Amino acid sequence: MMQSRHLIDLSDLSVPEWEEITRLACDIRERIDDYYGVCRGKILATLFYEPSTRTQMSFQTAMLRLGGRIIGFDNPGNSSVSKGESLKDTVRVVSGYADIIALRHPLAGAPKAAALYSRVPVINAGDGGHLHPTQTLTDLVTLRNEKGTFSGLCIGLCGDLKNGRTVHSLIKAMAGFSGNRFVLISTPDLGVPPYIKDYLAASGCSYQEMDNLAEAMPLLDVLYMTRIQQERFASPEEYERQKGVYVLDAEKMKHARKDLVVLHPLPRVDEITVEVDDDPRAKYFEQTEYGLYARMALIMKMTEGTGKELAPTRPGSQRRCSNPLCITNRETYIPRSFRKSGDMLVCDFCDERTLLS
Ligand code: NCD
Repeated sequence: MMQSRHLIDLSDLSVPEWEEITRLACDIRERIDDYYGVCRGKILATLFYEPSTRTQMSFQTAMLRLGGRIIGFDNPGNSSVSKGESLKDTVRVVSGYADIIALRHPLAGAPKAAALYSRVPVINAGDGGHLHPTQTLTDLVTLRNEKGTFSGLCIGLCGDLKNGRTVHSLIKAMAGFSGNRFVLISTPDLGVPPYIKDYLAASGCSYQEMDNLAEAMPLLDVLYMTRIQQERFASPEEYERQKGVYVLDAEKMKHARKDLVVLHPLPRVDEITVEVDDDPRAKYFEQTEYGLYARMALIMKMTEGTGKELAPTRPGSQRRCSNPLCITNRETYIPRSFRKSGDMLVCDFCDERTLLS
């Protein structure tokens, strides 16, 4: 029997597969009713250990529009998690009920850990400040429709680039297409994590870091605004220092290209003024709708003839990950593993780097 395929990071799919999924999503958009029944008899479980509006509802709507059904929780307090059940046990049980699982968790690496114990495909619906590959699929479908290309773009990302998981996944995806350049706009404290810079360097992609949004505006084909991720800060004071620094308003839009596309994974707090919503270049509400088609396409692809065999777990490393927000430090039975990168050791679950000693 085949082992299940999981979507933890976008690299779990090949570039032709992403292209196939984004094409399929575009077709679904054209004739959504034709897809009703494609997943008849299938069940999606949404296990959301962290709040969500769009991601959870679009996953659920996607399965319902494909003619499947849904189970799950959006408040772990109402599940046996509140009685102390481990991620391993919850996932093991749910994978006996459902055909596919979408999992969101506040700790980095949780979906990867869950996949070790699931007999059905696990989709990462956002893990802490780490990754959010299905938002990126959404972003790709949006770009395909609104820009017509994934290549040769100058992409500005603005806001909390350190903790914004959507940013990390999007950079990893867009660095794979030719001729893209990045303008990373943040305060010095909220720049992208080192592993993302390593990724950009390894892919030979050019990028510049800026701290002024107004100055960046005329350069951009795409502007990806993000919220300062309040829940990831160590203290309320630290958040207070960072919030409200970047605000996209009508004045800044005057200096942008006519064909700029403004995206935002939402929820928005105060980083885009409401007047910008009426600018035809603002595409963030359209983006939420593309997310539905993207997830319909993804569910179709991932429930296609997948196996139910559990991969054997290997013994873990004695070493501990240095990231306190890594799942392996909370659920300590998970077999830890690391890979070498120069003189660094990189955690396979959360990508935290520590100096090899
Ligand atoms: C994002 C997330 O949860 O990471 N939202 C989403 O999935 N659309 C962005 C955010 O919370 O700021």
